[in-house]
Formats: sequence, C-alpha cells, structure tokens
Amino acid sequence: MTMDPRVIGVVGAGAMGAGIAQVALRHGHKVVMGDTNDVAIARGRAAIEKAFQREVEKQRMTDDQAASAMAMLTLADTSRGMDPFAGCQVVIEAIIERLDIKQQSFRALEDVVSDGTILATNTSSLSIASIAGVCDRPERVLGVHFFNPAPVMPLVEIVPGLRTSPAVVAEARGLVDGWGKTTVAAADTPGFIVNRIARPFYSEALRVYDDGEADMATIDWAMREIGGFRMGPFELMDFIGHDVNYLVTESVWTAMYYDPRYKPSLTQKRLLEAGLLGRKSGRGFYDYAEGAAREVPTTDREAGERIFHRVLAMLVNEAADAVHLRIASAPDVELAMTRGVNYPRGLLQWGNAVGPERLLGILEACHAASPDGRYRPSPLLRRCVERQTPLPT
Ligand SMILES: NC(=O)c1ccc[n+]([C@@H]2O[C@H](COP(=O)([O-])OP(=O)(O)OC[C@H]3O[C@@H](n4cnc5c(N)ncnc54)[C@H](O)[C@@H]3O)[C@@H](O)[C@H]2O)c1
Repeated sequence: MTMDPRVIGVVGAGAMGAGIAQVALRHGHKVVMGDTNDVAIARGRAAIEKAFQREVEKQRMTDDQAASAMAMLTLADTSRGMDPFAGCQVVIEAIIERLDIKQQSFRALEDVVSDGTILATNTSSLSIASIAGVCDRPERVLGVHFFNPAPVMPLVEIVPGLRTSPAVVAEARGLVDGWGKTTVAAADTPGFIVNRIARPFYSEALRVYDDGEADMATIDWAMREIGGFRMGPFELMDFIGHDVNYLVTESVWTAMYYDPRYKPSLTQKRLLEAGLLGRKSGRGFYDYAEGAAREVPTTDREAGERIFHRVLAMLVNEAADAVHLRIASAPDVELAMTRGVNYPRGLLQWGNAVGPERLLGILEACHAASPDGRYRPSPLLRRCVERQTPLPT
C-alpha cells in the first residue's frame, strides 16, 4: 500500500461516511472522519476496524497494514466546528439528507479549508446546484455519489454542478478511479443515473400488482427466473427498506414536477406508514417471521414473460430517455446499471436484443390502457424504431 499525500476529509461517520473513509484509508490516505454524534463516530471507527480485521483474516491485508491504516484515521467531533478538516485536500460530505444542514456544513467547511480544496457531496437526491449555490467557490463543489456499501459497490457517479470547474471534475474522478472504482459522469438531475433509471424496476412491478395482473411472488419469480435479476422487485424493496426505497421514488417524482412516469405506489406508501419497513422490521411485502408461510408463485411461463417484458420496456425506455436528455452517455448508462445495481445486462443492449420495436409496442399498448403519460415512449426509442437503427450503446 503506497501513501497518497492527499488528506481526505469525510463529514458524517454513518453507513456511507465510514464506508468512504474505509476506502480512502485502504488506498493509503490520511483520513479525517467527523460527525456531530460521538456514538456514530465510535460506531464508524469500529466498523472500519472490523472490516480491516476481516481483510486480514482473508489474507488481503497484513496485521501491520491494518494497524497502519487505522493509525492514519483521525476522528473529529464536528459539533465543535469544522477546524479538523483544515488540512484536507478533498472533503466528502455524507451527512443526513437535508438541504439546509448540508448547506450549513459546506459554508462552515469553506471557512476553514484552503482555496484549492475540493468539496464533494454524497447526496442521493439533492441537487449539486443547490448545495454549491451557497458556497463562495461553487467551482470546487461536485457530487461524488457512492453506493451502499461503499467499500463493496464498484460504481461511483461523478456529478458536476452547473458551475463546477472541469479541473475539479477531472481531479475528483481521477482520485476515485485510483481507488479502484468505476466512475460514470452524470448530469445534475433528480436521481442522477442509477436512482432514476432503476425506478421502473420497483414502480412498474408495483403497477403490475396494483393492476391485479399478478401477485408479488409471481412478479418476483418472473423477474428472477425469466429476467435473470438477482432478486425480484418486492424482495429487493423489502431488503432495501421502504423508508429508503419509497422515499427515493417520492423524491424523484416530486423533483420531476410530478411526472406520472415516476409516480409512487400507495401500496408501498401504506407499508411505510404502518412501519412495515421490510426485512429489518420483520415484515414488508413478505412476512419474515420464523415459520411464516412463503407465498408460492404461479409459474406460468407465458404470463411471466409478459410481466418481465412490461417491466423491461419501462426500464429500457428510461435508459433511452436518459441518453436522449444527455443525463449520461450510452456507455455510462450501461456501466451504471450493471455495476451500480448488478443488472444482468446493460439496458440499451438488452433493448436491442429484445427489439426496440417490440418494446415500443408494449409501451404503446400500456399507454392505450392508461393514457396519463406514464408510458410515453422516449423520443430516442421512437426514432430508433422509425429509422430501424439499434439503440446507442
Ligand atoms: N445509505 C445509502 O444507501 C446511501 C447511498 C448513497 C448515498 N447516500 C447518501 O449519503 C448520505 C449519508 O447517508 P447514510 O446512509 O450514511 O446516513 P446515516 O444516517 O447512516 O449517517 C449520517 C451521519 O451524519 C451525521 N450527521 C448529521 N448531521 C451532521 C452534521 N451537521 N455534521 C456532521 N455529521 C452529521 C449523523 O450523526 C450520522 O452519523 C446522505 O446524503 C444519503 O442520501 C446514502
């Protein structure tokens, strides 16, 4: 492990902050990790130490390397201010998802860091413009969006704000690439790439259920067995937790001015309201109590194919629209979905394999049944069908 002279600051020692600090320590940086809550700091430190111990057990690190990585970690109580970040070249913020608190933290950081320090936010749903907008030097602010757990998930979305300087984007991207991550460039739009394009995996599955077309176990079976996804949408929503998954859907929907394409499902909202958050509370769509009966899917192949293709049509449409709207390049869209959420294939390639014309036909049939705009085809998908060209990949 070679030392990297750049000192990395991480604000927030929660799930994401501790994970990001671990990645930076593992790559030879000195890291300052701060939080306003000492319990969170202690928990974050313990999580990093435990992760390094596991690496030692697996012989991916020696005892000495683990000890010297831990020695490079400085803990800071940021309720006393941001001074401990003064010597950092890059600071990554991973605190609570609240705009006012993030803005306050960025202002406080700017008071102590030097002019050349890059300030990054790990926000999932807030705009980079709204955070950078309160800074004296918005050109040094950008989004660096890791996925959970940060040490494991390879994808990082790099999100410049309107005023971020290209040199800052290049330096931040180079740094994260050097940590062995796969970086993709995303425009500063709701949900960036992954959290936008993945929405129909959940919401169209819910719509199939709400329309009374199939039960949850059957939809999960179709997406796993026919689609090749690792988990079905209902299992996955239960795994992520409805507090997180529903709120991401709702935030993308409201940020998109209530576009019907992103409309959440009341079925999921009721679970959240009832406190049935999924696996972590023992019950969500499914019951995880010991001995609880597991729903049995109806394994009718033809019906399963219909369900899978309807969800896939919505996913490919969303991927095509992200390219159409220049939210990301086609190759970055493919990388983001395969590396950020482990989709079995890139959606654009998948769309070409199934056939853009067939997918357009599915969207048009759904639109005829529910003409509220939810199923409107992306202009890019339509153009590819008209010109008989494949979707760009
Ligand atoms: N959890 C995920 O799956 C995930 C994935 C990608 C991005 N994110 C984003 O990362 C950020 C952090 O999420 P998380 O899941 O780690 O949350 P978390 O609740 O696990 O941790 C947040 C931490 O921030 C601390 N904090 C709150 N206000 C603070 C302040 N003013 N100064 C310093 N510390 C403060 C809290 O004490 C807590 O320890 C959020 O912006 C979230 O949207 C989360």
